[in-house]
Amino acid sequence: MRHSLIAGNWKMNASLAANEAWIKGFVQASKTQGIEFEGGPQIMLCVPAPYWLQMSELIRKSSLPIVVGAQNVNEHDKGAFTGEVSVPMMAEMNLRSVILGHSERRQWFGETDELISQKVVKVLSSNLTPIVCVGESLSDREGLKTFEVIKHQVDALLSKIEPSDLERLVVAYEPIWAIGTGLTATPEQAQEVHAFIRQELLAKGPLGYKTRILYGGSMNPSNARALLSMTDIDGGLIGGASLVPEDFLKIVSSAIA
Ligand code: PGA
Repeated sequence: MRHSLIAGNWKMNASLAANEAWIKGFVQASKTQGIEFEGGPQIMLCVPAPYWLQMSELIRKSSLPIVVGAQNVNEHDKGAFTGEVSVPMMAEMNLRSVILGHSERRQWFGETDELISQKVVKVLSSNLTPIVCVGESLSDREGLKTFEVIKHQVDALLSKIEPSDLERLVVAYEPIWAIGTGLTATPEQAQEVHAFIRQELLAKGPLGYKTRILYGGSMNPSNARALLSMTDIDGGLIGGASLVPEDFLKIVSSAIA
């Protein structure tokens, strides 16, 4: 059994006051909705770097079972890389995980499969968990190139890691046409790609059955349960809906049985 993971990706959205209000709202909603976190999914919030400590502290004080993650990292440990943040820095801040190769990083910051693989290898050498994003564009899908594109992205990643790393790796399938658009892949469309990714992982090694594959792209309280019920969908990477504590909690509760 794979332990499901519900991860929020706040992107460049946060403030000291908004974060405090989010935690208050989440605590309140979990009381109102009567949520028992015991035995539920792993819950993570990937927040902008300046708020890692504030969020960790707020979470600790409210005793919520949430871990904090990052949204990108540099592939080097330290040095003359102005504006960058390294894996050892994240480890020192007790971060658990980092999103890598998000389509926004690929599109706006020119991240290539090669660079993303270097970052994955660096993260795997620490105690952090890499959440590696893959996904096709609308024109890829319309041109029937989905599997070709996914295979290329997944194989580039797998060629750089060891079969023993598969257990710690998390892959997020995020069709670009579904991110922030309100369009969601149907559970069947998503499962088809997840099953394909699973085959690629298993071709790398038997621990591929332990790799968690998350779905991301307009996941919300109304579609989460159906998506999360699919065999190879082991959780979600949630953007917009993770900013609203009540909605994020509903998605978390969709992953509880
Ligand atoms: P979305 O974003 O849920 O707002 O579509 C998902 C993501 O970009 O990770």
